[in-house]
Amino acid sequence: MSVASKKSILVVGCGSIGERHLRCFLQTKRATVTACDTNPALLQRMAATYQVPTVSDWAVALASGAFQAAIVCTPAPFHVPIGQRALEAGVHVLIEKPLSNSLAGVAELLRARDRSRGQAAVGYTLHGYPVLVAAKTWLARAELGRIRQVVVTGGQPFHLLRPGYAQSYYRDRKSGGGAIQDALTHSVNWVESVVGPADSVLCDCAHQLLPGVEVEDTVHVSARHGDILANYTLNQFQPANETTIQFNAERGSVKIEFHRRRWGVFAEGATDWTWHEIPAMERDGPFLTQAHAFLDQLEGRPSTLCSLEAGAQTLRFNLAALASAQSGTRVHCRDLHE
Ligand SMILES: NC(=O)c1ccc[n+]([C@@H]2O[C@H](COP(=O)([O-])OP(=O)(O)OC[C@H]3O[C@@H](n4cnc5c(N)ncnc54)[C@H](O)[C@@H]3O)[C@@H](O)[C@H]2O)c1
Repeated sequence: MSVASKKSILVVGCGSIGERHLRCFLQTKRATVTACDTNPALLQRMAATYQVPTVSDWAVALASGAFQAAIVCTPAPFHVPIGQRALEAGVHVLIEKPLSNSLAGVAELLRARDRSRGQAAVGYTLHGYPVLVAAKTWLARAELGRIRQVVVTGGQPFHLLRPGYAQSYYRDRKSGGGAIQDALTHSVNWVESVVGPADSVLCDCAHQLLPGVEVEDTVHVSARHGDILANYTLNQFQPANETTIQFNAERGSVKIEFHRRRWGVFAEGATDWTWHEIPAMERDGPFLTQAHAFLDQLEGRPSTLCSLEAGAQTLRFNLAALASAQSGTRVHCRDLHE
């Protein structure tokens, strides 16, 4: 592909996930990439490692007219203002999850997208994992009848997976930290894409073990997605990095063992699970898939990514869970306001 036909991409925030996006967009060979960060040492490293140009001021870069799309990889409180400015400058956006840490500016962001007719998506990466794509595609056939219950159980040794978390945005809910906004939100967003948005949540959470922080590392949520009951539990300290998602329907169940990259069906009358194994992927794999999907979307192909509307709904779930944990009562997503 010639340089002229490649999309010109600005990666805003080149920390742990921004660097990964930068690398994956380069790997598509369909984009040129410029790194943007307020940290000069980080920019030097991006330039040296990937031979990309660098800029320090995202507002100046967006106004320059040099970029067709921006990947917003700063901590959550900056996502909406940067996303909005990008759309207003005629720049498409892929915004990292969670969409924000409050509803402030979210309605205006959607209006900016509509006014500009730009493309926008939220970087909930689970949409690019083949085991989840396969299970969701099968579930859409509704062969087991209506889904009645969803159970999600996950845990991980966060301190091993993300060294430095205690000095990052993770340490404070105000910057998007804690297990609800940072970790549980992935499963919630994906389950919402399968069974529809959650209406209400009852949440309990606490800091149980993760060293160096006081934010919640453990969450239990009982949610209703329409007339479907869902239960989510997550901790960020158990040694095993495992997530299991089970859908119980009228005539059987579908179980996804994310950590084993397999999904299975136990239909009425069966005596055991029938498993479907999915080959292993590189760590960058789902992010490369996401980069291609975003570039496809820019070229007018149907989006397979999380929409702004779906990202805003999952943000409501996050905020409802936090409010419920605070009040000890069930919180309805529709009752949340800016
Ligand atoms: N999709 C995923 O799997 C995934 C994984 C990790 C993080 N994330 C999300 O990505 C976002 C960033 O997370 P991270 O782990 O990369 O954080 P990080 O702290 O490692 O990196 C954030 C970067 O943003 C830069 N930054 C902050 N303000 C800026 C500004 N005004 N202009 C330019 N740069 C600025 C910081 O200097 C830093 O380098 C968070 O919202 C997080 O939840 C998503």
